Amino acid sequence: MDDKKQLVAKEAIKYVESGMTLGLGSGSTVEWFLKYLSDEMKLGLNIVGVPTSKKTERLANHYGIPLVELAKETTIDLAVDGADLVFSDLNLLKGGGGSLVREKLIDWIAEKLVIIVDDSKMVNQSGQFEVPVEVLSFGWEKTKELIEAQGYTCQLRVINDETFISDNGNFILDCKVDKLYDLNRAHIYLKQITGVVDTGLFVNMVDLVMIGDKHGVREMN
Ligand code: 5RP
Repeated sequence: MDDKKQLVAKEAIKYVESGMTLGLGSGSTVEWFLKYLSDEMKLGLNIVGVPTSKKTERLANHYGIPLVELAKETTIDLAVDGADLVFSDLNLLKGGGGSLVREKLIDWIAEKLVIIVDDSKMVNQSGQFEVPVEVLSFGWEKTKELIEAQGYTCQLRVINDETFISDNGNFILDCKVDKLYDLNRAHIYLKQITGVVDTGLFVNMVDLVMIGDKHGVREMN
């Protein structure tokens, strides 16, 4: 799996040009992308990045990739991000690493969004899925009840016996659902609940998906 992630991350460098402001996604595939980016920067590539998570921020600092704040005047030419699942219509399920809110904001405003994944992430839109939902810690059990009233079964994300806290200081609920035919509708219904900050459903955002498989890298748009 790692070979495929490495391969696709390296290939994505071809879309990076000097002078760009890049949205730097999160996850293990993007971590390879950051490494290849830093290799290219040693050869003269000149970019700045906006990280989608504190982990990406730390790694970018480690590689010497210059970072800028997401401010009023910031524009993002290209965002390169990973995904947990990519459906056949190129909508995404994200949030496995708990960075969905910052990822969604940066991926949304980017001129171009390129998703890099290995082929295990490509799925059909039928069957059971688990949607990560970032919620306020305040009254989270009430928010959970409201989400479950929409047909989900949610579990508070706990890692190593500790409640997972997002970079924004919120909790994540992993919400199982039997059918997920209309992602946009599912997202809108969840998002209207007051305690919900955002969902891991990324709808109509992607420009290009790059998929690493045993034969190389293929692209879908
Ligand atoms: C984090 C995400 C990541 O983009 C996703 O988990 C990436 O997966 P991988 O580690 O396989 O690249 O959505 O919130």
